[in-house]
Amino acid sequence: MTQPAHIIAFAGSLRSDSWNKQLVNAAARSAESAGARVTVLDLADYPLPMFDETLEDQAPSAALNDLRALFSSANGLLIASPEYNGSIAPVLKNTLDWLSRSAKDESYQPAYGQFSVGIMAASPGGLGGIRGLSHLRDVLTNVGSLVVPAQVAVPASYEAFDENGQIVNAALSDRVDALVNQVLSHAHV
Ligand SMILES: Cc1cc2nc3c(=O)[nH]c(=O)nc-3n(C[C@H](O)[C@H](O)[C@H](O)COP(=O)(O)O)c2cc1C
Repeated sequence: MTQPAHIIAFAGSLRSDSWNKQLVNAAARSAESAGARVTVLDLADYPLPMFDETLEDQAPSAALNDLRALFSSANGLLIASPEYNGSIAPVLKNTLDWLSRSAKDESYQPAYGQFSVGIMAASPGGLGGIRGLSHLRDVLTNVGSLVVPAQVAVPASYEAFDENGQIVNAALSDRVDALVNQVLSHAHV
C-alpha cells in the first residue's frame, strides 16, 4: 500500500488572528480530505533568532531541531503568507533561510529538493498579497523546490472567512482545492 504524502502547512505570520493562518488551515483540511497526512505548524511555536552565521557554531535550539526533523520527513509544503511592503514576510524568509543550511555535524541536510509547494496569500488589501507570492516563488525555486503553477491570493480577507474559519466563497474554495491537488499530484512519497 502506498503511503500518503506528508504535507507541512504553515503561515508566514505570527499573529494569532492571522488571515493567512485561516487560509492555510483551509488548504490543510483540503489536503487531508484528499488523503494526505498534514502537519499544521504555527511558526510562533518555533521561534528562531534572526539568522546569523555566527549562531551556526552554537548548538541548535530545540525549535530548530524540531523544524529540521519535520521538514526532513515532508514531501510537500502549503504556505500562506502576507506580503510586507510587496515582498516576502520576514518571519517566513528567516525560517526558510535557517532550514536552507546544513547542520554543522551533518545531522541535517536541507530538504527543499524533495518538496512540491503550493503558495497562497491573504490580505485586507485589494491585491491579496500577490506581489509577495512572486518573490516567495523565486526563493523556493532557487532552493530547489517545485512550486506548482497554481497560486491563490485572497484580497479583502476580512470577508473571505466565516466565524469558523471556513472559506465563504465556493469559487475561492475550489481554487484552494485545485492548488492542493497540484501539490499532491507532484509530491513524491
Ligand atoms: C510592515 C507591514 C507591511 C505591509 N505591507 C503590505 C503590502 O505590501 N501589501 C498588502 O496587501 N498588505 C500589507 N500589509 C498588511 C497585511 O497584509 C496585513 O497586516 C495582514 O493582515 C497580515 O497578514 P495576517 O493577517 O496573516 O497576519 C502590511 C503589514 C505590515 C505590518
